[in-house]
Amino acid sequence: MVATLSQLYKPNHDEAARQRFIGVLKSFANGSLEEQLAERYEQVLKKNFELEVGHSPADRSEARSLFEADPLYQLWGSMVFTSQGLMWETVGSTCKRIKDLFEARAQRVTVNPRGTLSLNPSLEIPEPIASTEIHRQPGGYFASTGPNDLKTALIYFGTLELYRAAKGLTAHAPVGEPGIGRFVMQVAKRDFPNLRPLRILELGCGTGIDTIALKEAYPDAEVHGLDLSAPFVKFAHAWAEESGVILHFKQADAQATGYPDGYFDLIVSHILFHETWHNIAPKIFSEARRLLISGGVFLNADVPYQPARLTIPKQVTNDWQVRNNGEPFWTGFADTDVPSILRDAGFKDNEVFSYYEPLGIGYYYFFGGQKK
Ligand SMILES: C[S@@+](CC[C@H](N)C(=O)[O-])C[C@H]1O[C@@H](n2cnc3c(N)ncnc32)[C@H](O)[C@@H]1O
Repeated sequence: MVATLSQLYKPNHDEAARQRFIGVLKSFANGSLEEQLAERYEQVLKKNFELEVGHSPADRSEARSLFEADPLYQLWGSMVFTSQGLMWETVGSTCKRIKDLFEARAQRVTVNPRGTLSLNPSLEIPEPIASTEIHRQPGGYFASTGPNDLKTALIYFGTLELYRAAKGLTAHAPVGEPGIGRFVMQVAKRDFPNLRPLRILELGCGTGIDTIALKEAYPDAEVHGLDLSAPFVKFAHAWAEESGVILHFKQADAQATGYPDGYFDLIVSHILFHETWHNIAPKIFSEARRLLISGGVFLNADVPYQPARLTIPKQVTNDWQVRNNGEPFWTGFADTDVPSILRDAGFKDNEVFSYYEPLGIGYYYFFGGQKK
């Protein structure tokens, strides 16, 4: 029997053991070690600072040097940095092993597609994302050695699977389960119960796994996914065809998508904007408003790291990610007043919304606008 794409993505015994170890290491560093660091700040670092300066640190920039001199913080930083490097290395070895078979299968399932794929080889990838290795992914989002090369996408996908396994989500759910897409669609249906979208667009759809959940939620809608990265949308197209779901993928910049005015009823994104710089996000917001039909909804889910919600240790560790771990816009996004940028981009006061939505032990920051 011929293996499908999801069957082909299968770490072998040793790879799976290494991936589990990395998942546990990451959970330890980001969980209990960070908690110990927070305690150390309360009990030692803050008190020392107060004795010396006369007040407690007001924000991350005042607190950073305190942490940098502390051995527990140094241990935390080296563990997070190392586990990230190990993650790419280990997932990379699985992907290298299965790459040829995976690409051959992707070719095969896209011979007579029911959905579409539109590539733009002359697309200018905006800086700084063009030359940034986001999350320290080797080669970034755009590395490609040829028209059939899916390695960049396969590795990104592999790390999504590693995180799902670390959260215990893979035991009963298939490879590539579109869990986050389903979550975003639940929020869409709850908050906009009268919406009956004919056309839906996902901006920054990445490998398109979650785009499948949009079609699941609104089976009669025409569903599109758009991303800057050619390997990502090629992967997304093959994955959708293999899954028997009709989707339309396009390599394009969300600032200038090329669709007509009022083409979509619902535009969504997941973790796009914390990787989208100050000069770019407003252009994407105004493009989204142009693309919406009257009554249409722009709904985005992203990281909830606005400093007012965070303790000082969390502000410092987030900022560490910016400087050391390939998350160059985390704090830039967190410091941005998103609703005001939505308004500057053309959404009216009574159209804009933003709120925090719980998921598991954390939250997502939802924001956007309903065009009146
Ligand atoms: C963190 S990934 C998220 C991908 C996917 N939504 C997910 O949840 O896995 C951010 C994605 O946004 C894409 N992206 C960033 N800037 C973009 C832009 N200006 N236009 C279109 N896509 C963009 C990147 O190529 C990347 O695939």
